[in-house]
Amino acid sequence: MSNPAPVTDWVHDFDHTDPRWTDNPFPIWDELRAKCPVVHTDRFLGVYLPTTYEAVKEISYDTEHFSSRRVVVRNVRPEPPQPAPPITSDPPTHKPAKQILLPPFTPDATVKLEPRVRAICNELIDAFIDQPSVDAAAHYTKHIPTRAIAHMLGIPEKDGDLFIKWIHEILELGIHDDAVLMRAVGDMTAYFAEQIEARKIHPTDDLISTLMNARDKDGRPLSDEHVQGSLRLLLIAGIDTTWSGIGSSLWHLAKTPTDRERLIAEPELLPTAIEEFLRAYSPVTMAREVMKETTVSGCPIKPGNMVLLSFPAANRDPAVFPDADKVIIDRKENRHAAFGLGIHRCVGSNLARMEMLVAIEEWLKRIPDFRLDPSRDMKWSEGTVRGPRQLPLLLGKAA
Ligand code: HEM
Repeated sequence: MSNPAPVTDWVHDFDHTDPRWTDNPFPIWDELRAKCPVVHTDRFLGVYLPTTYEAVKEISYDTEHFSSRRVVVRNVRPEPPQPAPPITSDPPTHKPAKQILLPPFTPDATVKLEPRVRAICNELIDAFIDQPSVDAAAHYTKHIPTRAIAHMLGIPEKDGDLFIKWIHEILELGIHDDAVLMRAVGDMTAYFAEQIEARKIHPTDDLISTLMNARDKDGRPLSDEHVQGSLRLLLIAGIDTTWSGIGSSLWHLAKTPTDRERLIAEPELLPTAIEEFLRAYSPVTMAREVMKETTVSGCPIKPGNMVLLSFPAANRDPAVFPDADKVIIDRKENRHAAFGLGIHRCVGSNLARMEMLVAIEEWLKRIPDFRLDPSRDMKWSEGTVRGPRQLPLLLGKAA
């Protein structure tokens, strides 16, 4: 696969996989927002990018002109890939598919999972707390949501490395390489087919069985394909996203000692700070396919193109968030869009918030002093989900 040409004109030729975007997209979005609320690139077979909160909101709520049948911007656009309901569903099939997923993710259900998540965090910290340094992405942040969702689904927590490999192939390598994407989706489907077959013989009380026992609006069981699609979605939606959210929060605290000291002194501020980390370092950018001609914030939009639906750019819009590029851990008004807007708003937001809170709380309790390791590289993921994939930290007080 040849490397795409570097961007020289962000307004007319942006590329969300350009290394400068991956490293630090914020000044790019500021530049674009100042010029036009919706820009376009011919790359990736034609993509619009809304950069204001208003334009992102307009598109999110407009399911007539914008479809979710494709939710990742890629170099190829074959027939829509295997569905993963409800994220790839449009009305009217979206609502019933979403309702099936809601009960396991209520605040009450999430509270029950909290002790396991706290235990996971402490088991992970035990393994490196005596070392002078750690790659927190490899040894901490990535394992928390992976083990939590495996626990909920009733699959072995040790299969986590496999899930992370598939997600990397689907969300990052798959942007440029269809074969890698299709293989990963196939492997994941085969894995869940085996899990479903096992439960047909020996039913369990985990999330896979819950989905297998669910009924659609006409009282019929879901097809195996529907259950598999939703399971693939939960794994993909639940891991990379929260891994990124925890990682960006730790990264911020590693380089901002005043915020770290304040959160240690005032732990009751942590939920507010987590909302600010979610706003400022929003992990998830989704996509839509333009189905019919329309306008957004006065800009013409043509079918045949995709939309890069940047909730992260919306969250940096100074028209809605004063000092949008500053991280203010006690920000009062913070109706951010990190979990999406409109009918596809995140099913797992309670779980994600709990995991982020517990992960940072346990870390600060046991490792109050830490900073970025200047001798090793930090690395951000590319594409749909943004977060640290290498996060080298020095542990303990500076000498
Ligand atoms: C910090 C962590 C997370 C962030 C930032 C996040 C963000 C998002 C966003 C922006 C959407 C909207 C997608 C769209 O408009 O197309 C979404 C949807 C979704 N998320 Fe999350 N998510 C997170 C964690 C989770 C977790 C832990 C789960 C479950 C295990 C989850 C499950 C889902 C599902 C099932 C949908 C699809 C909802 C629908 O289509 O109606 N997410 N998420």
